[in-house]
Amino acid sequence: MVLSKSLTIFVVVAFSISVSLINNGVEAFHKIYPHLQSVSAVSVSGMHRTGYHFQPPRNWINDPNGPMFYNGVYHLFYQYNPNGSVWGNIVWAHSISKDLINWKALEPAIYPSKPFDKYGCWSGSATILPGKGPVILYTGIIDENQTQVQCYAKPEDPSDPFLRKWVKPDEFNPIVVAGKGVNGSAFRDPTTAWWSKDGHWRILVGSRRKHRGMAYLYRSRDFFKWVRAKHPIHSAKTGMWECPDFYPVSLKGKEGLDTSMVGTNVKHVLKNSLDMTRFEYYTLGTYFMNKDKYIPDNTSEDGWGGLRYDYGNFYASKSFFDPSKNRRILWGWANESDSKDDDIKKGWAGIQAIPRSVWLDSTGRQLVQWPVEELNSLREREVNMNNHKLEKGDHIEVDGITAAQADVEVTFSFTSLDKAEAYDPSWVNAQDLCAQKGSKVEGGVGPFGLLTLASENLEEFTPVFFRIFKAPDKHVVLLCSDARSSSLKSNLYKPPFAGFVDVDLEATKKLSLRSLIDHSVVESFGEGGKTNILSRVYPQLAVTIQAHLFVFNNGTEPITVEKLKAWSMKSADII
Ligand code: FRU
Repeated sequence: MVLSKSLTIFVVVAFSISVSLINNGVEAFHKIYPHLQSVSAVSVSGMHRTGYHFQPPRNWINDPNGPMFYNGVYHLFYQYNPNGSVWGNIVWAHSISKDLINWKALEPAIYPSKPFDKYGCWSGSATILPGKGPVILYTGIIDENQTQVQCYAKPEDPSDPFLRKWVKPDEFNPIVVAGKGVNGSAFRDPTTAWWSKDGHWRILVGSRRKHRGMAYLYRSRDFFKWVRAKHPIHSAKTGMWECPDFYPVSLKGKEGLDTSMVGTNVKHVLKNSLDMTRFEYYTLGTYFMNKDKYIPDNTSEDGWGGLRYDYGNFYASKSFFDPSKNRRILWGWANESDSKDDDIKKGWAGIQAIPRSVWLDSTGRQLVQWPVEELNSLREREVNMNNHKLEKGDHIEVDGITAAQADVEVTFSFTSLDKAEAYDPSWVNAQDLCAQKGSKVEGGVGPFGLLTLASENLEEFTPVFFRIFKAPDKHVVLLCSDARSSSLKSNLYKPPFAGFVDVDLEATKKLSLRSLIDHSVVESFGEGGKTNILSRVYPQLAVTIQAHLFVFNNGTEPITVEKLKAWSMKSADII
């Protein structure tokens, strides 16, 4: 996204004013509807509920919190309203799993009960202290002005395999208060701590000073007394940074690294969730431990137009290191695209994206993500399509699976790039380009891809597709997940989400796509997880057994479906 400086300032100011009006004076973030926060739905509507994406039986959810693997069990905590389907009454709900796919809910782990969190228990992270077990750091809200402090909780009984009960000792809590020069109403979401050889633990806390988003760094020797470093570890002119995440990635291979790992073979990732745009962005860079500084590489923008984990509906994400499989796993929240009134009617709002493994791409310029391998255990009834040619205008049904609850992997190939449309260098915003050149506008090479959650006669469909352009020195590849035709209903958020794909097409003349389709979500991974887009959609006709899946080509260059595998997906046990 490229905005001129004055326009950016105007947007920042206008947005802040309008949001603070909507939100009773509370800074930005979730919309607040005090009268609806404790209105429980009469019944829960199952029509668009997911079969294998995580969601609790009812009510509102947002950020994933404190994910971890401890003593053979995965834990997922998340922001949850136990009383209604809009944001409010927030507690840390708690679910456990052996495989990241099937989940069992326990009692909420953290809820307001102390003066330091009386008005809310907001997002945070878990750290496993060697020899001592896990500690959770979270943001407590201490008053009606939403003043934010950082608190800790620990398991009441560390030998309980499920860590059911958490206590918030009075000693040392809250462990961090805003302090001089720090904006106490924009000061939240502590990261997982990392340990350094100088004997200190370190954490980041998201904040902002005027229009500058920043992550403050705190150091501690004992995990309880924390001191703020002189400067934030990093900052940028983006508005508030929520849910920062900071971790090392290996320069080679897909293995994840423990959050405390440093060395010559690693790069660091700093991710922030931008309250103003409700998108996240990350940079890759170098962490200078001695200086408490992080300097991003110059390979991507450090701001609103930067790299994203996901170019769709994916926010407040959090990663953790899974030592059982030496991988780093990323969780993200996928908010609703229907209206608040619909959320209240259906009795639930929000899901979590499928947990993704994340690693550094071999180019070193970006991350790559892929659904955790455990997801494949839900696959059944495989269908195949091999070497199938798609002429301009073709759409061919992928038959024989439950298209509303499916997993599809496909590789498309083409013999020539000669017909690729010319790329106009002013097209820097992928979403605008997708809006202009949707799936039906004839192109040269592409648009081609999948029509997901499609009704039989295509009154409704969510196309996920590539479109290739020719720039003077390279080919530009666009991946779109376009919700504009996803539903006959009109009061929905139906954006044409899109991202560019950093790939050298000359060599391969192939592009791959995987889409996880699950009733009201289409979560897609382009070119092996280089560019990913999650769309939330609410079809009216293309539901349950009325949903169809097609491959299509609307470009003049013929496209070959070289290899397609699709599976019906069993439902996960999420109770
Ligand atoms: C992100 C966020 C966090 C905050 C939490 C409150 O969605 O606004 O910054 O801690 O949600 O639920």
